[in-house]
Amino acid sequence: MIDKQIQPQLTMTTCCTLADCTHETNNEEQKIKNAKRGGISFFNCDCMDFMTNKPNNFYDLIIVDPPYNDYFSRGGQARKNAKLGNYKIDSLNGNKPTDEYWDELLRISQNQIIWGINWVQRYFGAGGIVWYKDNTGNYSPCELAYQSFDNHIRHFEYRWNGMLQGNMKHKEIRIHPTQKPVQLYRWILQNYASPGMKILDTHGGSMSIAIACDMEGFDLDICEIDKEYFENGLQRFDNYKKQLKLF
Ligand SMILES: C[S@@+](CC[C@H](N)C(=O)[O-])C[C@H]1O[C@@H](n2cnc3c(N)ncnc32)[C@H](O)[C@@H]1O
Repeated sequence: MIDKQIQPQLTMTTCCTLADCTHETNNEEQKIKNAKRGGISFFNCDCMDFMTNKPNNFYDLIIVDPPYNDYFSRGGQARKNAKLGNYKIDSLNGNKPTDEYWDELLRISQNQIIWGINWVQRYFGAGGIVWYKDNTGNYSPCELAYQSFDNHIRHFEYRWNGMLQGNMKHKEIRIHPTQKPVQLYRWILQNYASPGMKILDTHGGSMSIAIACDMEGFDLDICEIDKEYFENGLQRFDNYKKQLKLF
């Protein structure tokens, strides 16, 4: 029988500062703060801390979009952008994935979709996705991802050009400097994920993928290191759920 006297004091608390949090945590240091909404678990933490304890091949699919640029030194446009729209870019800057990150990602997952693969100095495989976003000016018209499922390169077209979006009747509010459209993630899930897959996104940002997973009926674990992005993204998810209830 365990002596209650010597058991560590674990405080079980709801963990999120926002209303509605039902997720309990016994993490004493509160290194990883989390919130649960149905099948979607949001973690406000460094994804390296999150991945450490996961067994090999734990996730069926990891879909990630890490920051690659040195946003402050990349030159005029990036610096100008940093001021435009009052976007905060601290957690994007200097947080490029390390070799250790890629090793962990491959260790804990069976399949991967990795955005920004053109920035990564490591060969993953021949499969790819091109997102044609019809961007103009100084912005790239396409984005490139690696996909581990086969050796094909597929493409998805969805305009994401400032005020112009693929679906102008249901425009998405942009809350994050590198936000991807929900429709892109829905397309990915429809084309690559199978029912019941355990999915992780290590770099949540605006949480577009969480909305897409909810729409397509997938559970998801999602990490975001920045407290402000985390709370804004969670709020965005909650607003989307509230809108659903109205109809
Ligand atoms: C390129 S953005 C992701 C954008 C996202 N795909 C979207 O649609 O909004 C990368 C995000 O990763 C976060 N981040 C950076 N380093 C991280 C880390 N070590 N762990 C978790 N999140 C991190 C940044 O704060 C940023 O919000």
